[in-house]
Amino acid sequence: MRILAIESSCDESAAAVLDTAGGLLSHELYSQVELHRVYGGVVPELASRDHVRRLLPLVREALKRAGTQPQALDGVAYTAGPGLIGALLTGAALARSLAQAWGIPAIGVHHLEGHLLAPLLEPDPPPFPHVALLVSGGHTILIEVQAIGEYTLLGETRDDAAGEAFDKTAKLLGLPYPGGPELARLADAGRGGVFSFPRPMLDRPGLEFSFSGLKTAVLHAVQGREMTDTLRSDVAHAVQEAIVETLVAKASRAMDSTGLDALVVSGGVSANRALRVRMAEAAARNGFRVFYPRVEFCTDNAAMIAVAGLARLRAGQHDSLAILARAQWPLESLPPLAPPL
Ligand code: KG4
Ligand code: ZN
Repeated sequence: MRILAIESSCDESAAAVLDTAGGLLSHELYSQVELHRVYGGVVPELASRDHVRRLLPLVREALKRAGTQPQALDGVAYTAGPGLIGALLTGAALARSLAQAWGIPAIGVHHLEGHLLAPLLEPDPPPFPHVALLVSGGHTILIEVQAIGEYTLLGETRDDAAGEAFDKTAKLLGLPYPGGPELARLADAGRGGVFSFPRPMLDRPGLEFSFSGLKTAVLHAVQGREMTDTLRSDVAHAVQEAIVETLVAKASRAMDSTGLDALVVSGGVSANRALRVRMAEAAARNGFRVFYPRVEFCTDNAAMIAVAGLARLRAGQHDSLAILARAQWPLESLPPLAPPL
């Protein structure tokens, strides 16, 4: 079985072709970062308009690179949510129309299920069941993944997501959008022990997160101070430390409470190098294994949408002719792959 997948939930337009036998045949991506940079964040209307411009050429390129004619496709997967509703609609309408024209099924994929399943593209994929820590710009959740489509929420953030905390504190330091990777770069050059920010909710039992207090702590630290490059790096270092330590501690706690021995870390923040180093240390200490997507598939892409879409199409699932797009969509509401016996 071979499918085309389209991603357009935020500021990345992407298309990919995945085959059950041949694996990932192509993946194309256009990032709108430059478009949104002058505004310091994603402007939803501009994002939608740019997806309209970019998606079809990306689809053509993905098919060409995969050496695939539309007749060889068995379905079209697209991100149906959660995300920016206008952006989602552009990809959903395109995918639905192509599927209709080609006479094949289409399936609306949950963006977070895509992030969760992205490590299945790697040579050493995670076993099921496992725990997943999903850390992106919009979400910070810990879930128990029994199988594809069987998700139990263990804990989530009460306010800002981890990626959002990176982005917002980066903005306070005057770093350009998107701040997360910029802050991480600066943090690696910073000195430890100069600043110390709170580890939110670490002292409390449970698996909830809260990152909104970090912005205020950083604001207080930089206010009225002459910020040299060195000081800026030191603040970045302390921010990264606080976020990473919290994520590692809560993930370790989830491994402990579930008794599982495999952890998937995915979503944009899983590209963070400090997080990977610290998580590896915790894993060695506590006897669990950690699985990541390759770095380019940590952030938004269509390959991960293809993985989730292919799994569901193979199980015989697809959607009606309606164009499906949901700004909000609880992950736990997804159906399991096959009906339980
Ligand atoms: O998964 P993603 O591409 O989009 C969402 O679904 O949200 O994640 C984007 C988020 C942004 O907040 C970005 O700043 C963060 O991931 N991010 C990072 C790094 N690379 C991306 N945060 C920390 N360190 C990084 N290396
Ligand atoms: Zn994402």
